[in-house]
This record gives sequence, structure tokens and C-alpha cells, in this order.
Amino acid sequence: SGSVRIACIDGDGIGPELVDSAREVLAAAAEADGLTVEFGSESAGAGTYLRTGEPLAAGALERFRTEYDAVLKGPVGLPDVRKPDGTEAGVLGGVLRNGLDTYANVRPVRLLPGVREAAGPIDYVIVRENTEGLYLSRGSGVRNDRAASDQLLMTRVGVERIVRFAFETARARTGAPADGVRRVTCVDKSNVLRSFAFFRDIFHEVAADYPDVEADHRYTDAAAHDLVANPGHFDVLVTENFVGDMLSDLGAATVGGLGTCPAGNIGERTAYFEPVHGSAPSIAGQDLANPTSQLLTAAMLLDHVGATGTARRITGAVEAAYAEGAVRLNPHGTPTCGTKGVTAAVLSRL
Ligand code: NAD
Ligand code: IPM
Ligand code: MN
Repeated sequence: SGSVRIACIDGDGIGPELVDSAREVLAAAAEADGLTVEFGSESAGAGTYLRTGEPLAAGALERFRTEYDAVLKGPVGLPDVRKPDGTEAGVLGGVLRNGLDTYANVRPVRLLPGVREAAGPIDYVIVRENTEGLYLSRGSGVRNDRAASDQLLMTRVGVERIVRFAFETARARTGAPADGVRRVTCVDKSNVLRSFAFFRDIFHEVAADYPDVEADHRYTDAAAHDLVANPGHFDVLVTENFVGDMLSDLGAATVGGLGTCPAGNIGERTAYFEPVHGSAPSIAGQDLANPTSQLLTAAMLLDHVGATGTARRITGAVEAAYAEGAVRLNPHGTPTCGTKGVTAAVLSRL
């Protein structure tokens, strides 16, 4: 029982087919639980930019804050839709993440049953700082014919809140690393860069408030290695924005590809949910994309708004579809049964 208002952003490329799949599964799961779901729609992305000159409809941010419980977003952006400075016009990172102050980008990496052979379970969460770091330079870097520069910024307030969020995530988590030790791994380049040394020092200050959670660290390069070579070590990772961007796609490659990886952008008042991946233009509109990322994204949204039973119904159905072999992935990450086949396999197991 209860009701949830969800704003949907269909997005570009494979976005519309993925969000269609998620809406269908979400509506069916909610109905089974007697949960009322109202879907709204907001247009955003490269298509919106080409039509209107802006990547997000006017007033949308305010509607997200006041008229909805959460936002379900498909991937946006098209590589050829660019601004004069050479950056993409249709991506919404700054608009949404800084506009809504969703400072925590939560990116679970979990191996689903039957996807691939691994030495053990892979089940960790990357907590990516989402409002500062290198990305704070977005729109203000400088370039001329001879040189270009972007500046990274870490603030005490920004680092403290993301590290605290990571420790809280570890405490609340049920999945466990192979050795059963609850831990947060700080991933930084504090051996070379002052900003990252600042990040690590604040990590240890905050860690003192969480004696029940192990405070662990890795330099960025060794973290990349160990995420491939020994993923069972990891529980929660916390890191700077740009580093988190790279490591989340790397993690995806170890669990069947980007089409299996969901994400949530969480702020104090507002949250929006999207897959880790982009709009994959080369496979768009051909029933090739894996919608699992978007389905697990819908489950994260439901969990966040307190509809935990309905969230669990969706993740359970996804896991069953994989475990029973109804969904199998090609080596490059597309499902053998197509986008619609995955949707049908999950719908029939809700
Ligand atoms: P991408 O994530 O779209 O694609 C990378 C690779 O993963 C491609 O081979 C693609 O086919 C594959 N892939 C992605 N999602 C898949 C799925 N669900 N099922 C199967 N295979 C999948 O990255 P890109 O090609 O570098 O970027 C394309 C566009 O997306 C760019 O405009 C980029 O800026 C944008 N982008 C947006 C977001 C977002 O909206 N959050 C995230 C990343 C990239
Ligand atoms: C992501 C994406 C975005 C990022 C881009 C599209 C702005 O890659 O959500 O991981 O770099 O954060
Ligand atoms: Mn990314």
C-alpha cells in the first residue's frame, strides 16, 4: 500500500527502450504489492537540446524537488551533439547532480547468477563523490590553441559528507565481502597529489566515528588492479568524482558489462536513479540493449522511497531470470533474448 510519484526521463539512444522496460516492470511489481505508482514525464538530453537549445526542460529541477518522490532516468547524451568548447551539450551531470546537490553517486557492482565464472561472489558498492573533485571544473576550464587546463577542488564539507555516507552505507549493507569484514576502502592518489592527501586525512578523521567498520585504502592504480584480480576483497569504496567514474565502468566489466549496473544519485532532499552506462547509440532501437541496469535502477529507487518489498520483488525476479538461464549474455554484454526478452523473463517471475 501507499503511493509513489516518479518522474521519468526517457533520454537518448537506448534510453527510451530501457525506461519503457523499467516502467512496465515497476508497474507490474507495484500492482502485485498494492502500491500506487504515478509516472510523470520530463524531456531531457541531446534530443531535447537539439529541439530547445537546453538539455533539460525549464522548471524541471523545481518539479523534481517538489512534485515527485524520485526520478527514474534513462541514459542521455549523443557523442556528436557538442558545444563550441568541444564538450557534449546533451549530458546532464552538472545540471542534475549540482542542481539537486545529489552528492553521493551510489554504484553497486554485483555478479548476477550464471553471468560468468568468478573465483567467488562480486558484491561491493562504489560511493562516488558527485558534486566536486575534477568535475567541479565543468564549464570553467580554460583552453586555447597551445594549452588547456581544468582544476580539481576538494572541500572539507564535500569530503566529510561523502566519506560519512560511505560508512553509513557499509553499516546498512547486507551483502558482505569474502572474509565477512565490513570495510570502507578509500581510493585516492595521496602518494602524489595534495588534494587526495587531504581526502585521505579526512577519511581517517571520519573513520574514527565508525570503529565497527574497517578503514582500508588503495591507491587508484592498485584499486583498479585489485577490482579485477581480487574483487571479493571489496565492500564499500569511496572516492573522488572522476576516479569513481572510471572505476564504476571497470567494475561493470567484471560482472557482465554495463548493462547490468544501476546507480543512484542521492542528496539530502532529492534523488535520481539511472544506469551507470550511457546511451549506447550504436545498439539503439534494435532490441539489443540489456535493460537489467535500468530494472535494478528502478529497484534502487523503490528501496530509497521506502517501498522495500516491491524493490525486493524486482531484484528477486531479475536474479531468478538469470539463475534459471532465461537471460544469458553474449560476450559483449547484450542479452541473447533481446531487450524485450529480458523484460518478459523478469515480468513472468515477479
Ligand atoms: P556507453 O556506456 O553508452 O557505451 C559503452 C559500451 O557499453 C558500448 O559498447 C555500448 O554498446 C555498451 N552498453 C552500454 N549500455 C549497454 C546496455 N544496456 N546493454 C548492452 N550494452 C551496453 O558509453 P559511450 O559510448 O562512451 O557514450 C555514449 C553516450 O552516452 C555519450 O553521449 C556519453 O556522454 C553518454 N553517457 C551518458 C551517461 C548518463 O546519462 N548517465 C553515462 C555515460 C555516458
Ligand atoms: C556517468 C557518466 C557521466 C559522468 C557523463 C555522461 C557526464 O559517464 O554518469 O558515469 O562522467 O559522470
Ligand atoms: Mn561514466
